Amino acid sequence: MGLSSRGHRAALDRGASSTVSAAKNRVVERVAELGKLGRYEGGIDRPLASPSERAARERFAAWARANGYALTQDAAGNTFARRLGTRSDLEPILVGSHLDTVKTGGAYDGAYGVIGAMCALELLDARGIATAHPVEAVAWAGEEGSRFPLGCLGSSAFAGLVTVDHVRSLHDEDGIDYASALASPDGGALRDVAQRSDSSVAAYLELHVEQGPILEAAGVQLGIVTAIAGQRRLRCTVEGVSGHAGTVPMHMRADALCAASELVIALDVAARAVGDAVATVGWIHVEPNGTNVVPGTVSFSLDIRSPDDAKLDAIEAAFERAMQKARTARNVDVTLEAFERRKPTPMTVFMREAIARGIASLGKPSLDVPSGAGHDAMSLGKIVPTAMIFVPSIGGRSHVAQERTGDADLELGVEALAAAVAEVDAALLAKEA
Ligand code: GLV
Ligand code: MN
Ligand code: MN
Repeated sequence: MGLSSRGHRAALDRGASSTVSAAKNRVVERVAELGKLGRYEGGIDRPLASPSERAARERFAAWARANGYALTQDAAGNTFARRLGTRSDLEPILVGSHLDTVKTGGAYDGAYGVIGAMCALELLDARGIATAHPVEAVAWAGEEGSRFPLGCLGSSAFAGLVTVDHVRSLHDEDGIDYASALASPDGGALRDVAQRSDSSVAAYLELHVEQGPILEAAGVQLGIVTAIAGQRRLRCTVEGVSGHAGTVPMHMRADALCAASELVIALDVAARAVGDAVATVGWIHVEPNGTNVVPGTVSFSLDIRSPDDAKLDAIEAAFERAMQKARTARNVDVTLEAFERRKPTPMTVFMREAIARGIASLGKPSLDVPSGAGHDAMSLGKIVPTAMIFVPSIGGRSHVAQERTGDADLELGVEALAAAVAEVDAALLAKEA
């Protein structure tokens, strides 16, 4: 049964309040619990199919089993926990995020959305709220792209944007392919979980920390995402000539690092000039990397984002002009390889409206916000109605150990998600009628 705002409040009154508050409080405990997995002095390092990431999936599976939700996992390593709907003929509403982190990650990016999904289903249970559609909490495999060179790896395969064979064949820096990583007992697929091949879905919702400063600055606890910026990830390689730092005269050098330095700055300048765009060089490898050796080869990453795809084109074109300049001015060879290109992803209007109704039923304000960060919602948004809820990030910080969100915001986000699930269920039924 779908749920109007009035219905929601009635259900709230019916719910045993201690069970309801236990379901809400669990989100804070679980974020802290998963925040111990992969923790080191620099933050959390929980790459896809590592022992710590698998341990997080095990916890997700344990919560699902305790709730009586049916668990499945697919060949891309995505894990699903299904709460039944009243109508078995309907496709599920998926609700989820990811459990992997960047190398210096925090406890909230991704994990909060997976935990929040589970807690939202538990909140619906605690309040005795039935939905017509089955609702599945999902832990998508490898959103960050920090181990295998593809962001939103599992959700991209699920949505059919890339093949499952492709993602299973991707290699990490140690030469291990994802299929082998999934087969390993340490970090691989869960045991005793049914295999899933079905990728039918009615709609997708994702709860996430904002990772930026807008909500905190506005003093608003809940954001409704308007669109996710388009993004490109590329690798640039500069080939010069290495040599003795004391003997090669300056006018005879082909110093790959000097050329790369100019290119790094050229990217920054291009993004500033184009406006409403960001560009980052996040890693750089220098060879041979010795104090007294002229650098011979340098490779570095480019991460370029904008809500406007034409601006991404403009920045890439400016960078290619800078590459051409470096070739002649620095006597080096420069190549550029794109390994990910995603267009901006607008969120679905009727889904945003459903979230807004859910939040209004809680008597809380919300703010429409764009997302500069990428999310699995980019993949699902290509195939089904999709929307996202944000909660504030303290100081707007993310992808760093200092990433934080206040407990009250974590709890309210779960409330908003549960209300949104009920509203989306009703909105889909109305559309199907
Ligand atoms: C993922 O967090 C991304 O936006 O790169
Ligand atoms: Mn994330
Ligand atoms: Mn992230």
